[in-house]
Amino acid sequence: MKTSELKLSKPAIEFLKNEGYSELYPPQQESIDAGLLDGENIIVSAPTASGKTLIAVIAMINYLSKNRGKIVYLSPLRALAAEKFSEFKKFETIDFGRKIKVQISTGDYESVDKELEKSDVLILTNEKMDSIIRHGPEWIEEVGLVIADEIHLIGDQDRGQTLEVVLTKLKLLENKPQILALSATITNVDDLAEWLNCKIVDNEWRPVPLYEGVYDGGSVIMNDGREFEVQASIRGKPVDLGVESVLDGGQSLLFAETRNRSSSLATKAADAILHSLKKKEIEELENISKKILQSNEHTELVKTLATLVKKGVAFHHAGLNPNCRQTIETEFRSGKIKLLAATPTLAAGVNLPARRVVISSISRYNSRVGANRPISVLEYKQLCGRAGRPQYDDYGEAIIVGNSNSSELIDYYVNGEPEPIESKITDDKSLRIHVLSLIVTSPGIKKDEILDFFLQTLGGLQSTKSTIKFGIDIAIKFLLTEDFIINKGQRFVATDFGKKVSKLYIDPITATIFRDSLTLVTPGRKHTFGFLHLISNCEEFFPKFSLRIKDYEPLGVMLENCSSELIEPISEYDCSRSLMALQSWISESSEIVLADSLKIESGDIHRLIQTSDWLLYCLRELAKQGDNLDLLDELDILRKRVIYGIREELNDLVKIKGIGRIRARKLFNHGIKTLEDLSKIPVKKLAEIDKIGSTLADNIKSQLQKGR
Ligand SMILES: Nc1ncnc2c1ncn2[C@@H]1O[C@H](COP(=O)(O)OP(=O)(O)OP(=O)(O)O)[C@@H](O)[C@H]1O
Ligand SMILES: [Mg+2]
Repeated sequence: MKTSELKLSKPAIEFLKNEGYSELYPPQQESIDAGLLDGENIIVSAPTASGKTLIAVIAMINYLSKNRGKIVYLSPLRALAAEKFSEFKKFETIDFGRKIKVQISTGDYESVDKELEKSDVLILTNEKMDSIIRHGPEWIEEVGLVIADEIHLIGDQDRGQTLEVVLTKLKLLENKPQILALSATITNVDDLAEWLNCKIVDNEWRPVPLYEGVYDGGSVIMNDGREFEVQASIRGKPVDLGVESVLDGGQSLLFAETRNRSSSLATKAADAILHSLKKKEIEELENISKKILQSNEHTELVKTLATLVKKGVAFHHAGLNPNCRQTIETEFRSGKIKLLAATPTLAAGVNLPARRVVISSISRYNSRVGANRPISVLEYKQLCGRAGRPQYDDYGEAIIVGNSNSSELIDYYVNGEPEPIESKITDDKSLRIHVLSLIVTSPGIKKDEILDFFLQTLGGLQSTKSTIKFGIDIAIKFLLTEDFIINKGQRFVATDFGKKVSKLYIDPITATIFRDSLTLVTPGRKHTFGFLHLISNCEEFFPKFSLRIKDYEPLGVMLENCSSELIEPISEYDCSRSLMALQSWISESSEIVLADSLKIESGDIHRLIQTSDWLLYCLRELAKQGDNLDLLDELDILRKRVIYGIREELNDLVKIKGIGRIRARKLFNHGIKTLEDLSKIPVKKLAEIDKIGSTLADNIKSQLQKGR
């Protein structure tokens, strides 16, 4: 079917045409046939790159032409949400006879963005949606279309439960929104369909063929029967495979199990790729390399990256900060970077121009078991699926590097079926969190009604009623004992503490630890290190880096220096390298020092700041509720110190836009310590200070004027 034949308005059809869509792919056609445009609930299970996003786009523009309600698009990852936002933002240019607004919101769980109320299409992470529901804004009832992308992640041990609860709540809304669930190929799509009351579109079609195979003992065996030799070199098998595809005119993506391995693979590939580049390409790459150096501190990691980029290769992992990662993704997409070695975080749903994906190892560190484990078939298929994306290549190849076990790898992965999706809703933690949130949003709810709700989840379908009831009983008992809820006869209501905790979006166990610790603080004394220690030990804290042997000595010194700031005595064994990094960060250590001494990279610091800021905020809110009002200022100051990476004395200066930790320190060392000092110094003198200059000096002055 042609897109022009769709029963959509003229401007909508024109929009699809301008976006380059003229013919529907089979899974898209099947979704239309299943009643997508008539508001049917649909679950699509289809291979990677089969065009599931366009099904969502068609559903959205159809909805916007016929209805005035809201659309919610749910993504499991912020990066994916950002990619979709730039795609869906274009809806604002379509003439729907009214102005529509597309908005993204993925962070800050404590508030509901006012903008969302005024927007028509909301792009949210699953967690953000969950937090919005807990705040109960009135517009929730206006949600008329829900799109859940990558819904197969419902089986994820850590984050699947949130999506499951969110979808259960949305499907139970009074106005019964249309649900469109998009999934990778899964074996038990029937379960999900029954749960969400959806029609099934289960289609194996892929727009460009993706061949899978295994490289072992000098030759590659592909599942289309092809067998070919690869020129072996000392660079190693994964790199040989990657380089070969680049020399053939494609781009390669190498998946590595660790960060170190990803940079070592890229390094090994560099010279071979450099030799294949044209002069103009090298010039362009040199500019990208310069840009990386200009906008980042020169840690070893950044310097290595910049050197590699000049040769047309790069690595991509969580140690890189978002700015570097973005540059690498963009330049791999633009075709300038030819070979990219990445950890598997790059795998979910994104479009990349890799003709060949190489899986250098099928084992991955599992933090729960504390050891390496083979990845699941579902994960393997997601990694493969980055190869052969239709706008870039007309075929794709995914090759696992074997270790004298090619027939097992072919049986298990290449010919294997993805594992069925299993709900994780009945975990203790999950029930504790979600039973509380249910009681907060439905005050007066009875135990039977709580059970009814959980029976409506996927877990309700997959486990027995008595298992769920047992889990709920345990959760309720805990919540009652710890004063999150009280019962009035048969009914439950949340206490103010319970309400606050649910809205703060933390595990009730963390909240009890925070609450109890707050009773131990000594009035009139500072607890900076004690607070950092407290947050760094809770479940939500991320990323957690454990101590290495060589960290014990500097940690000992740190503990001695900070002993007066502790809330209660602690031992070295309940400290982490992340805690050390945070303390150094707020003492103004540079990124280079943190990377060299603690092996904590810029990307890690970025995430440490985000989680610490959030957890300190939670601590502050609980202090406020517990009447520890004298702590509020201290916690506010600490949050700011964490965000900017500064000592307390710079807190005033960083209020000015354009002044961060480095400039504030320069100013301070020049005797300019407060906003008042800044106002007094003549603009010319200000401009002369290192790292300021006349443009910023003018800007600072005008900010100060406005602030008066
Ligand atoms: N009908 C179509 N005509 C031309 N190109 C299309 C069509 N439908 C989708 N595409 C293109 O196919 C590519 C892959 O689509 P999409 O990202 O939706 O895949 P997906 O099914 O969501 O895969 P994944 O499971 O990896 O997320 C996109 O670049 C998209 O523009
Ligand atoms: Mg997708």
